Amino acid sequence: MIKNFAYILALLCFFVSCKKNNDIKETRKKGLITQNAMVVSARVEASKIGSDILKKGGNAFDAMCATQLSLAIAYPYAGNLGGGGFMVYRKANGNIGSIDFREKAPMAATKDMYLDENGEVIPEKSTLGAMAVGVPGTIAGVFEVHEKLGSLPIEDILKPVIALAHKGVVVTEKQEKRIKHYQPFFPKANKDSIILDKLWKANDTIKYPALAKTLERILKHGRDEFYKGETAKILVKFIQENGGIITEEDLARYKAQWRTPITFTYDDLNIISMSPPSSGGVCLAQIMKMIEPFHLDEYGHNSLKAIQAITEAERRAYADRSFYLGDPDFVKIPIETLINDAYLSGRMADFSFEKATLSSDVSHGNIQIIESNETTHYSIIDQFGNAISATTTLNGAYGSKLYCSELGFFLNNEMDDFSSKPGEPNMFGLIGAEANSIIPEKRMLSSMTPTIVEKNGKLYMSVGTPGGATIITCVLQTILNIHEFGMTMQEAVDAPRFHHQWLPDVIMMEPNSFDKSIIQQLEKLGYTINEEDSPVIGIVDGILVLDDNSYEGGADRRGDDTAVGF
Ligand code: DON
Repeated sequence: MIKNFAYILALLCFFVSCKKNNDIKETRKKGLITQNAMVVSARVEASKIGSDILKKGGNAFDAMCATQLSLAIAYPYAGNLGGGGFMVYRKANGNIGSIDFREKAPMAATKDMYLDENGEVIPEKSTLGAMAVGVPGTIAGVFEVHEKLGSLPIEDILKPVIALAHKGVVVTEKQEKRIKHYQPFFPKANKDSIILDKLWKANDTIKYPALAKTLERILKHGRDEFYKGETAKILVKFIQENGGIITEEDLARYKAQWRTPITFTYDDLNIISMSPPSSGGVCLAQIMKMIEPFHLDEYGHNSLKAIQAITEAERRAYADRSFYLGDPDFVKIPIETLINDAYLSGRMADFSFEKATLSSDVSHGNIQIIESNETTHYSIIDQFGNAISATTTLNGAYGSKLYCSELGFFLNNEMDDFSSKPGEPNMFGLIGAEANSIIPEKRMLSSMTPTIVEKNGKLYMSVGTPGGATIITCVLQTILNIHEFGMTMQEAVDAPRFHHQWLPDVIMMEPNSFDKSIIQQLEKLGYTINEEDSPVIGIVDGILVLDDNSYEGGADRRGDDTAVGF
């Protein structure tokens, strides 16, 4: 009898717990789930073109080329032909790699080109107009990826993109606001009016016939059209007429570079991320290795102790970033040491939960930080199991704001990512040293962190984000949200985020998203909290491989980002 009673009780408990789990599952916010393939990017038009390429039998690399170029039309705020980026990949057979199509300094660039005669930084010279432009890398990157890893003919990739430029893209409410916000800057950089000077409203359609023409020429003549052909000539003439220093030789000499990604483990995850000239992989590795010994899952998501441990690791990693990192073709970077366990546990040795470490004890400086999200990221997994993670940028919103109307695209202001003057912050409040000083043909240090995660030797996640200096910490939090805190991909990208970058010595938090009592406790421990400057930290896009091998897309609620797949 007692036995029977115990059996019935156990059965009852089982049903109650099933019901509870089902309730939890039902209330969990999930992104798009697909069985075969997925593209997640900043705009539905770009995700759809990528997904259609996959449906047609193309692979993730074909879709990368099409998505990258579509973003120049669907999301000209950051998508580009006149900028650059990075892509990390993992093929279905487990082979990994990455490509750097980062802009570089023109040959006529000099170390002090943004300083006045007193050695002071000249305001806006590295951010607005033709002097801010680095030699663009996007077309070289796309063609390099296609040649080495693509499978469809280039026509199949470029034709839908050209069609999109002709057909145009419907303005969203967020885009209307963005265009309005940046319109006062366009006349400062351009002699003539440009396409985005018009008062575009949500639901209007913006067409890009000039860009369609440029892409048609690129389709006809290939990569060299952009770097040596008519397009190159038009571009150089335009930049020079606007006071810039990029020459035809600069374009002709540009090459995208295949790089070995940074790889490291965190618990049972194997993380594959971008190596220098992006600081993303090294910094992410440093932070994750420094927090690995802590029990974040027990502390809880955005709990006092979790925020402290992560902040202190971030503080130390960004201090190293500032001093050691730059273009590996020009500076020697002690990567092995920087991500070595013993070195990193030494870095955290003075951390205590009792009191904030002061950044001035790690180094010194007093700077301002303004955050924004003017880069863009996309993740793709194809029906063969190949995965890519790519982040691309013009740097600032609409880059240098200089728009070549004849060619139909904006030019970057990536030169601002160099350290114009040691100790002086760039537009992301990041300070740099000699390792990131300007040298002709050198690539400027980046924070872009396109990342792929493996679990038990299998593909697990593709993730990345815009956000300047906050990119690294946004990618970090997304991985932790899934791995430590059991979130779905959609929950992980939507969750409120915070950020610390050594200097300025503040924790930036998305406003009204954190527990007030935790903020008070942090302040008591000596942390300074800033909830004002960053209404949004990062716009993360990612794809998670679920237990049944289907895919869940995470398209950040903060943008118009959309997952498309099948
Ligand atoms: O490469 C970098 O780190 C920057 N140029 C990225 C700029 C960015 O994310 C803009 N959005 N905030």
